[in-house]
Amino acid sequence: DSSQGERQRQPDGEARIAEAVRALREGRLVILPTETVYGLAADASNPQAVAAVYEAKGRPSFNPLIAHVADAAAARRIANFDPRAEALAARFWPGPLTLVMPVLDTAAVCDLARAGLDTVAVRAPAHPLTHALLSNFGGPVVAPSANRSGRPSPTTCADAAEETGDSAAVALDGGACAIGLESTVVSLLDEARLLRPGAVTRAEIEAVIGPLAEAEADARRSPGRLARHYAPNLPVRLDAAAPEADEAYLAFGPSPAGARVFNLSPAGDLKEAAANLFGFLRAADRSGASGIAVAPIPHEGLGEAINDRLKRAAGFVG
Ligand code: TXA
Ligand code: MG
Repeated sequence: DSSQGERQRQPDGEARIAEAVRALREGRLVILPTETVYGLAADASNPQAVAAVYEAKGRPSFNPLIAHVADAAAARRIANFDPRAEALAARFWPGPLTLVMPVLDTAAVCDLARAGLDTVAVRAPAHPLTHALLSNFGGPVVAPSANRSGRPSPTTCADAAEETGDSAAVALDGGACAIGLESTVVSLLDEARLLRPGAVTRAEIEAVIGPLAEAEADARRSPGRLARHYAPNLPVRLDAAAPEADEAYLAFGPSPAGARVFNLSPAGDLKEAAANLFGFLRAADRSGASGIAVAPIPHEGLGEAINDRLKRAAGFVG
């Protein structure tokens, strides 16, 4: 429709940000861009608004949300920031790293946002539009990826609108997400643990705070580690050297072109592959294929996060 067209042409300037801030204050939802993926945002202190986020996503209410803040100063007001958090925030914020810490302000991030836990996941995103939104709003904003629960995360405003747009009062279009994979989630509750591999690699984190322990099997501490997640509609087959007759193919590195071949990175670059991953899963889903075959992806660096998402897209436990 024409308002969608307007939105594409209009630079999302101060007026759009003011409109989004107003919507959040009124308890309504906002689709917002981050450098990782698009989020479906609500005022973290407003239980009704947070409930609307769970409902729009079809997300089980035992899976807590990330509180997004403008900077470390805002994070210190809601969470117990220890020296490891200080070091990681100084190195990676604003940016694609989420820290799980003991919660301090249980009103600013309401119980429902934390799924009743006494901990809170916090991140300061780098996208300029969302940074401006968070600074102007003042308080923490929950923003899970704007997909319906279990589906691939949206990396464009159009994909976000298709997933959960009906529930949002405002959609801020900040272009295609530069990274395309969700933030890395690190728990700092006892030993530092990697709960979700992501855009900041394990090695980059270990360079700052030393070795990471494995995420515990205890699902109450890692509620987001669901087996089938990030999934397209079609079945996904991993480590495929080539597609079968009716399959779409997500290639990596030099590979013959074809009608349903989507090359994540012809040059074999993991950053490029990460940025293309969710959009290509969606495109392959729409291609009329019988299934989606995916080339092997090297496991180093960003490859850990890409393989984590692919495993879950294929329905295997992590
Ligand atoms: O890149 C991102 O992090 C995106 C953008 C929009 O910021 N957001 C995102 O949110 O991926 P979501 O809700 O899709 O994923 C949040 C993850 C889930 O795996 C959830 O279980 C975990 O963080 N999480 C949130 N709070 C937690 C807590 N208190 N303890 C352990 N895990 C938590
Ligand atoms: Mg998500």
